[in-house]
Amino acid sequence: MKIKQSPPYAPLLIESMRSLGYSFDTAIADLIDNSVSAQAKSINILLDPSDNPQLIIFDDGNGMDAITLEEALRFGSRGPLEKRNEFDLGRFGLGLKSASLSQCRRLVVASKHDGALSCFSWDLDEVEKTGDWSVLEYSQEEISKLPSIDLFDSVESGTYVLLQNFDRISASSHDVKKTLDTLIEIAEDHLSLVFHRIIAEDRVTIAINGRPIASKDPFLENHKSTQRLREQSINIDDKKITLQPYILPHRSKLSREDLRKVGGAEDLRTNQGFYIYRCKRLIIWGTWFRLLSKEELNKLARVKVDIPNSLDEIWSIDVKKSTANLPDKIRKNLYGSIKESIFGSKKVIEYRGKLNRDEDITYIWQRLTERDGSVTYSINRDLPQIQILTNSFDQTGQRVLETLLENIEDNFPASSVYLDVADGEISTVLKDNQKIVDDFEEQLTFADKLGISRDELINMLLKTEPYASNDDLKEMYNNHQVDL
Ligand SMILES: Nc1ncnc2c1ncn2[C@@H]1O[C@H](COP(=O)(O)OP(=O)(O)O)[C@@H](O)[C@H]1O
Ligand SMILES: [Mg+2]
Repeated sequence: MKIKQSPPYAPLLIESMRSLGYSFDTAIADLIDNSVSAQAKSINILLDPSDNPQLIIFDDGNGMDAITLEEALRFGSRGPLEKRNEFDLGRFGLGLKSASLSQCRRLVVASKHDGALSCFSWDLDEVEKTGDWSVLEYSQEEISKLPSIDLFDSVESGTYVLLQNFDRISASSHDVKKTLDTLIEIAEDHLSLVFHRIIAEDRVTIAINGRPIASKDPFLENHKSTQRLREQSINIDDKKITLQPYILPHRSKLSREDLRKVGGAEDLRTNQGFYIYRCKRLIIWGTWFRLLSKEELNKLARVKVDIPNSLDEIWSIDVKKSTANLPDKIRKNLYGSIKESIFGSKKVIEYRGKLNRDEDITYIWQRLTERDGSVTYSINRDLPQIQILTNSFDQTGQRVLETLLENIEDNFPASSVYLDVADGEISTVLKDNQKIVDDFEEQLTFADKLGISRDELINMLLKTEPYASNDDLKEMYNNHQVDL
């Protein structure tokens, strides 16, 4: 056997790398990752949407010297197995090249380190011409001619990434300028979410054409009605994953600004679920990983999950960092945590809903569990008042009453009540005592209509809410508390 070399053919491999599935916004986010990892304080995205548009991402991070920069432009410059510092958002050593070239044909990277500027570039036309991995090195004079290169004048160190020749956008759009404007708007939305914690912690300012991006806040952490549930943690190979569940305030309590921060009213339901962060950068959100269905009742539940980058291989994070699969190993633990938070809050509601039942009392609402586990509420037809009505109506009246009761049951505003109760919004002030006693006595005069004796009716009503729990009535009609 002898060893032969089988290097990939550059133009073809790069062309397929361009199709990893980046969108404009995920590509920009990947470039911003590099700036954040380089400890930039200020990142500027400058879009020049002329007929021949170009985009610059400029950061004041650590920068690179010529040797490091040349290495950084190599596809696969640092592998996934290399140990990274805990704030490093990189992973495969591909992002800079594959994210940029997924959008355009020319990537120029200039960097300043120790006062010296260096610059290298990938130009796909050049790669095609030479049929090889031909990276271009710029001379100082060539560097000085780059657009907005004077940005470097105001920083000690930093990096400048220039994207030119947006062939794909040009091919798919009649109006490249307009399309880019739209794309940058979508990108702003994306960046304000995926980097929201990094922006909110004042670690970095990200600006688009000089205008700083405002961070989102998917948990509305500073809203007074947000419920922050108990934090949980899972240990895997001595590394800690933390889970922080939240229940958002009800929609009616959200201002326009709150809605902007959580990601829009129409998205409240679709955006429920886990929010997975790697080094505080949001990677995946709005999914329960099929552990839970996206039902109305969970709509306001969101769980912040922090995973350290040392656990990357467990989560099988892809190059774009846009998917993270849930490993079985932690699936159960994660489920345990949501069970407590999501179902735990349902328990609170049931408790507050006074469903601890006393067999002897005729309740107004009956809770029925179906065979498939689903729950329905119905109005108890045995209530004396309903019987009084039924007996006093003719057939048409009885049909109307039954339809009314069914309509009330079918339209029970379960999710809204659920949220209001959880928020402590529903008033539990009861009618005053005298009113209850008066109502009670008035109803006794209807005994005839029911076709029963007054004593029988007293007995029935005393077993019914709200009279059953009224001490005055119990005392007044004590002698009736016997089975007739
Ligand atoms: N804006 C930047 N500032 C400083 N260094 C950078 C910057 N962008 C990229 N680099 C360097 O280039 C390397 C390769 O980047 P990239 O292709 O995105 O892969 P990864 O981020 O996975 O390491 C990074 O590891 C980093 O050392
Ligand atoms: Mg990177």
